Amino acid sequence: MKYVVVGGAGFIGSNLVDKLIENENEVVIIDNFSTGKKSNLNPKASVLELDMSIIPNYDKIVNCMKGADTVFMLAAKARVQPSIENPLEYEINNTIGTLNILKCASDAKVRRFVYSASSSAYGDSKVMPLVETMRINPLSPYGAQKYYGEVMCSVFSHIYNIETVCLRYFNVYGERQNLDGAYALVIGIFASQLLSGKPMTIRGDGEQRRDFTYVGDVVNANVLASTSKNVGNGEVINIGNGDNRSINQIADMLGGSRVYIDPVIEPKETLADNSLAKKLLGWEPKQVIENWIPGYKKDIGL
Ligand SMILES: NC(=O)c1ccc[n+]([C@@H]2O[C@H](COP(=O)([O-])OP(=O)(O)OC[C@H]3O[C@@H](n4cnc5c(N)ncnc54)[C@H](O)[C@@H]3O)[C@@H](O)[C@H]2O)c1
Repeated sequence: MKYVVVGGAGFIGSNLVDKLIENENEVVIIDNFSTGKKSNLNPKASVLELDMSIIPNYDKIVNCMKGADTVFMLAAKARVQPSIENPLEYEINNTIGTLNILKCASDAKVRRFVYSASSSAYGDSKVMPLVETMRINPLSPYGAQKYYGEVMCSVFSHIYNIETVCLRYFNVYGERQNLDGAYALVIGIFASQLLSGKPMTIRGDGEQRRDFTYVGDVVNANVLASTSKNVGNGEVINIGNGDNRSINQIADMLGGSRVYIDPVIEPKETLADNSLAKKLLGWEPKQVIENWIPGYKKDIGL
């Protein structure tokens, strides 16, 4: 089977590419390497290097999608804080980019489009766990842009002939997570600080809680979302472990000194109700962060 992974040089996308190739599929990656890395590329995948948000790239994108069963859409400028500093740049990349890729997939007659959505759409809910039917209330341009993609997926399934499904990921961690600068997530930031002999910087009191979800489980959710007969009409499905840990607990697991710095505007807690993923996709998370961190520390020399 042929698949296209948009954002296949990134953290989650490259793990998905590896799984698809392990399952003996043909994979085409579309990526502009803005945050993705050449070192993440699977040598068995072919690569189309371009910016998905530039409309004149439409023909090249449609051509490479022809004959594909599913397009997995993982490309985005994918971080909350930089989107607050550069909302316009993020807007063009994330909303126009998503729309362009959706239109290309539809015009190339791809059967299904699996969209990477984000738990950031929920904002700071006081009610836990987060259920897909809850009010959307993003706290950042990034969160709003990711939500726009969900809406467009639903629109495309209704007015064009393409099946869509949206997976709302909760904090993803795992192999190839970024350690660099603004694009790192909390575990990567802490790891890189510890490796350079600095204390871990914790924002606020560190009691904010996140539903940490393993990248391998997110990859499995994508594969199931591509094949499940229960989806295809723009369904929105939480992909989260269904439990959460505080940032202080993550710092305890990594071990080392820490400093507390000013808080930022962010949700106090995220926690996924993942029953819809279990029901519609037959998905079950298999990893927990306490079991993963010791091997990670060893791998990176901590
Ligand atoms: N990592 C998480 O915790 C998390 C949580 C929720 C949702 N998501 C979503 O999952 C997806 C993947 O996230 P990630 O953590 O792997 O991010 P990442 O930054 O590692 O990967 C994104 C990839 O998209 C590429 N890209 C960005 N803009 C592009 C453009 N205009 N044209 C072509 N390629 C472009 C980047 O080069 C990169 O390879 C994103 O859509 C993100 O919003 C991630």
